[in-house]
Amino acid sequence: MPLFVKIKDRQSGPYTLHELKRLVTEGNFSQADLVFHEDRQEWIEAGQLEELSRLFTPEIQPARPRTVYAIGGGKGGVGKTVLTASLGIGLASLGYQVVIVDVDLGGANLHTCMGILEPEYTFYHFYSLQKENLSDILLDTPIENLKLISGACGTLGLANPRYSQKLRFINELKNIQADFILLDLGAGSSYNVIDFFLAADQGIVVTTPEPMAVQETFNFIKIALMRKLTRTFKNNPTVIGKLEQDVFSESGRLAVPLQTAINDLEVIDADAAAQMKSVISGFAPSLILNMVHAEEEIKEGMVLKTAIEELLAVQMSILGYIDYDESVRRAVKELRPFVIDNPKSKASRALAKLISVGLLEKTGWTGFKEKRRVLRQISQEAKLYPAGQLQESDTICSVQCFYWGDCEYQNGGYPCPVRHLDPIFRR
Ligand SMILES: Nc1ncnc2c1ncn2[C@@H]1O[C@H](COP(=O)(O)OP(=O)(O)OP(=O)(O)O)[C@@H](O)[C@H]1O
Ligand SMILES: [Mg+2]
Repeated sequence: MPLFVKIKDRQSGPYTLHELKRLVTEGNFSQADLVFHEDRQEWIEAGQLEELSRLFTPEIQPARPRTVYAIGGGKGGVGKTVLTASLGIGLASLGYQVVIVDVDLGGANLHTCMGILEPEYTFYHFYSLQKENLSDILLDTPIENLKLISGACGTLGLANPRYSQKLRFINELKNIQADFILLDLGAGSSYNVIDFFLAADQGIVVTTPEPMAVQETFNFIKIALMRKLTRTFKNNPTVIGKLEQDVFSESGRLAVPLQTAINDLEVIDADAAAQMKSVISGFAPSLILNMVHAEEEIKEGMVLKTAIEELLAVQMSILGYIDYDESVRRAVKELRPFVIDNPKSKASRALAKLISVGLLEKTGWTGFKEKRRVLRQISQEAKLYPAGQLQESDTICSVQCFYWGDCEYQNGGYPCPVRHLDPIFRR
């Protein structure tokens, strides 16, 4: 859970553990600094908190720190789910322990993407307290080192969990043993999605180069930042009022860039302005541009990055881009992750580069070698991966379906992710 801290008597935050780790590395946070303990409602020295001990031991900054990535972005259908599955496979094939988690509470389908039609356990078992720990609902996948936490299938009343249920999930995430945890978020910018995005160590937004998608991604980042700032300044109505008036108005239009609002705030409340700057600098999402048809479309990613820097004062890095590739669509139809279905495709090669250069930050010749290694390892995995699991009997989505009018998926031509649950609905 994000934490408030007091460094040299100045309060700042909330920070995720990952952000605190960064402060420790930079020498800006020590065991003697104070942390606000939510349960005990008091300030405690960081060095005395068991849950922070790994921040200060040298082995917590090795080459393989555990990182929770949230993969979101405003627009639906931009490729969040297929990318989560294939990124997970790429990282697992390099030997990392990876868990992919379906946090799309309204339309869980990460399991389908992995070829698992009827997951034995889902989030439902966790939310309904049938299973106490997230580790109890971890599922094996055909890939070694890769586990899955499946979302609740169908409409089982989980689209709007209570905040306490979300907190329970976020806290439990910390207990999962893995090098990488990838959260596949649902579409949209509701707080259900945003809260998971902010709870992760690193937020990744996925967009296509289309103007509508780019605009929705900008809005997603704006809303996430507002949520973060509102939580920080919840006891300071002057700051909240200023933000609402100048930057995050109901009409959705920015009256002034956030930096101008900070400059104004500096005049009336220098401490609040400093705190705001520190919250914003701890918020550094990264971007994946997906379904790129031509090289000139890559500039849309740069345009978005510039807009976010100039208007929201947020630094956004670009992790990489993935080409538009028909083989991705074919793989989805076959219920296979695209890097497994065709490890040599354009999309798979772009994904390997994104992992080696973007995520693992290998540059130059080392980056090139690492990309080759990712592709080699994925090809090995593909050879061992079970053949298509699509059964003749699996229902294919069509307007002929009895449920079409009521169905939230309406994904004509693709295997239906919910009809196999018929027995549950009929009970
Ligand atoms: N690089 C690509 N090239 C071609 N098609 C793609 C590519 N990436 C994704 N797609 C297609 O886009 C569709 C939507 O992908 P996906 O389900 O991953 O999106 P999503 O962002 O998770 O959607 P939602 O917001 O509904 O959860 C899939 O059918 C997939 O085949
Ligand atoms: Mg999805």
